[in-house]
Amino acid sequence: MKITVLNGSPRKQNTTFMVDAFVKGAEEAGHTVEVIQVGKMKIAGCLGCEYCHGKGEGQCIQKDDMEKVYPAYQDSDMIVFASPIYYFGMTAQIMAAIQRVYALMKWPKATKAALLLSSMSPNVYDGAIGTYKGILAFTGIEDAGIFTAKDPENGSEALQKEIYDFAKGL
Ligand SMILES: Cc1cc2nc3c(=O)[nH]c(=O)nc-3n(C[C@H](O)[C@H](O)[C@H](O)COP(=O)(O)O)c2cc1C
Repeated sequence: MKITVLNGSPRKQNTTFMVDAFVKGAEEAGHTVEVIQVGKMKIAGCLGCEYCHGKGEGQCIQKDDMEKVYPAYQDSDMIVFASPIYYFGMTAQIMAAIQRVYALMKWPKATKAALLLSSMSPNVYDGAIGTYKGILAFTGIEDAGIFTAKDPENGSEALQKEIYDFAKGL
């Protein structure tokens, strides 16, 4: 399976520990994994101009780092959304990368998804999980697993093993 991980964190810390554990397990299971560091990219929000659904024929009018994300979306069998919680949701960067998929209308290949969320406090995941479940409902993609962890568990070996085992079992 070709798996794309969108890492919405702008730093290489808690979310990235979760991502690294996922990548290790998935690669050991023989999958090809690409991590796209959307948290560090310049991806503007959707303009809602509808150019993509008219003259653009599936191409966004905005030319930015999203150009690197579109091929991965189109190519992947599985998409993993990974993000720190910022004000009860995912980061602005990963949300822009999610919403700009609008240009494509649908994800042609992916059949599976997973969600990795890192936070400071407990019980702050409903917003991000709601967004994720909305994406799945809209696209028909099946949820393979949701992992949430607050500080300091988000850096723990126990969590990394749990995510590694999950990825290895895919
Ligand atoms: C702008 C901002 C907003 C945040 N909002 C929340 C929040 O609403 N709830 C929470 O528990 N943690 C919040 N945090 C803390 C991060 O979610 C937490 O530290 C996370 O583990 C960081 O992941 P990272 O190391 O991958 O960046 C926020 C952090 C930042 C920088």
